[in-house]
Amino acid sequence: MANKFAIVTGASSGIGYELAQVCAREGFDLLVAADTADINEAAEAFRAHGVSVDAVLADLATLNGVDSLYAAAQGRKVDALLANAGHGLGRGFLEQSFDDVRHVIDTNITGTIYLVQKVASDMRSRGGGRILITGSIAGFMPGTYQAVYNGTKAFIDSFSFALRAELKDTGVTVTCLMPGATETDFFARADLLDTKVGQSEKDDPADVAKVGFDAMMRGDGDIVSGWKNKLFSAIANITPAAILAEQHRKMAEPGSAEKS
Ligand SMILES: NC(=O)c1ccc[n+]([C@@H]2O[C@H](COP(=O)([O-])OP(=O)(O)OC[C@H]3O[C@@H](n4cnc5c(N)ncnc54)[C@H](OP(=O)(O)O)[C@@H]3O)[C@@H](O)[C@H]2O)c1
Repeated sequence: MANKFAIVTGASSGIGYELAQVCAREGFDLLVAADTADINEAAEAFRAHGVSVDAVLADLATLNGVDSLYAAAQGRKVDALLANAGHGLGRGFLEQSFDDVRHVIDTNITGTIYLVQKVASDMRSRGGGRILITGSIAGFMPGTYQAVYNGTKAFIDSFSFALRAELKDTGVTVTCLMPGATETDFFARADLLDTKVGQSEKDDPADVAKVGFDAMMRGDGDIVSGWKNKLFSAIANITPAAILAEQHRKMAEPGSAEKS
């Protein structure tokens, strides 16, 4: 019998790398994507599990990039889509370059939902499939000094639940993985290393990926990884947005690492 087949985006590092590792361990053939050549080295590591792995280097902030990833699947039945690629952007909104701002939105939202629409529509026609979208507990909180990023994750968290409801009874499940701060390249890439959150103790990306994969396979609606993050999200749900925005300032204001 042929292996199952999964597409994992943002698989060159961090949570996506670990998601692809779990999929490969569980016997999924893989199509993986990222925006740097590191994806080729990662693909080698996934092949060590004895599954077939194709890698695509594409900027998934662009529709062309997503088209090239989708084309690389060559019409093969996708059993699981793990739409994980994304990045942050620290500092004050007025200090950010608008090209960078737009790249965050185009990666985390536009490219993500474009890929999800294509793959989910094939899954619905075939009557089954699993989708895991990496949102974040950041979506529960206005992201002072990471305003655009948190906004994109609020979008993704919300979108994921809505699509799940639309696809009820089609055999296609949509699960939102909502990690808290996790030890990956995310904070360096978002220029958050001089912040309190950038220097805080973080979760292990392999643990986060495993709980996300398991939730996807169970077909759960969402999974907040880690008990501290579960507690945080429960409190955030009943805390006024203005208070949350002030709390986020303390974590993400440039230089806040020195004040802690
Ligand atoms: N780390 C955290 O604390 C945390 C918490 C909650 C949610 N998340 C979410 O988890 C996901 C993975 O992030 P991570 O923490 O694992 O960070 P990471 O180590 O920086 O990994 C991000 C991955 O996404 C890829 N990527 C980013 N922009 C891309 C683009 N435009 N086109 C193609 N690939 C792109 C990166 O590939 P290249 O490097 O090749 O561009 C990399 O493979 C993101 O959606 C992030 O928002 C992270």
